[in-house]
Amino acid sequence: MMSMTPEIEFCGVSKRFGTGPLVLDGLDLKVAPGEFISVIGPSGCGKTTFLRIAAGLSQPSGGEIRFGTRTDGARPELAFIFQEATLLPWRTVLGNIELPLRLRGERRARRRKTAERLAAEVGLGAAGDFHPRQLSGGMKMRVSLARALSLSPDVLLLDEPFGALDAITRNRLNEDLLALHRREGWSAFFVTHSVTEAVFLADRILVLAAEPARVETIIPVDLPRDRTLALRESDEFHDAVAEATRRMHNILAR
Ligand SMILES: Nc1ncnc2c1ncn2[C@@H]1O[C@H](COP(=O)(O)OP(=O)(O)O)[C@@H](O)[C@H]1O
Ligand SMILES: [Mg+2]
Repeated sequence: MMSMTPEIEFCGVSKRFGTGPLVLDGLDLKVAPGEFISVIGPSGCGKTTFLRIAAGLSQPSGGEIRFGTRTDGARPELAFIFQEATLLPWRTVLGNIELPLRLRGERRARRRKTAERLAAEVGLGAAGDFHPRQLSGGMKMRVSLARALSLSPDVLLLDEPFGALDAITRNRLNEDLLALHRREGWSAFFVTHSVTEAVFLADRILVLAAEPARVETIIPVDLPRDRTLALRESDEFHDAVAEATRRMHNILAR
């Protein structure tokens, strides 16, 4: 099950829609296996476009994306998580989690077993037979996360996944996401509007700036990889958030 997580490399990736302005302008970024990248920037600056290009859902207008190779020689598996959990209301939690495996033709007993394991891993072990209407927003997002993990992805793409949740639920999900990340070792691109969340999760923060020139900058997060509740409350963490905020203001005000 454990495949080597490939790295992903953006080489001069540009994007414009039709005759519109450049949304991404020659983006270069090399992501190490298992690296966690937070993506931040104002509305409309191209965060979703960047994720869609990474996922192959949209073609770059210039440049290219290179993927590493898994130990089994296959192309890396990518999974997308959206702000809306997009669950099928008539399916149970387990039924939703196993859907990608079902579409892939995996046998019922096997996919059910995987879904049960994943439900437990995201903290929904007791809710497998619930329907989406019986779940809180945080629980729905946990189902969405488990569903994405069902295909054993090498790269996880998360587009403002926790943006609609209350702060406490969001912090919990941040910690649980990092626990899963530690265990499974995928690379991640995580779009957020919260500097605190971006710093808490990331090895590096990709800042996308809109007007006027679409400048991109990378801010390294110099904190221990083990991001605990204690770390979140430390001066070290508050300093890192203040520093990232200052640098982002410099970039976005240019
Ligand atoms: N399919 C599309 N056709 C035309 N323009 C688009 C399309 N998708 C996004 N855009 C434009 O590209 C820019 C970046 O959009 P988007 O990536 O959604 O920003 P963000 O996710 O940062 O809010 C915006 O100006 C948006 O209007
Ligand atoms: Mg977006």
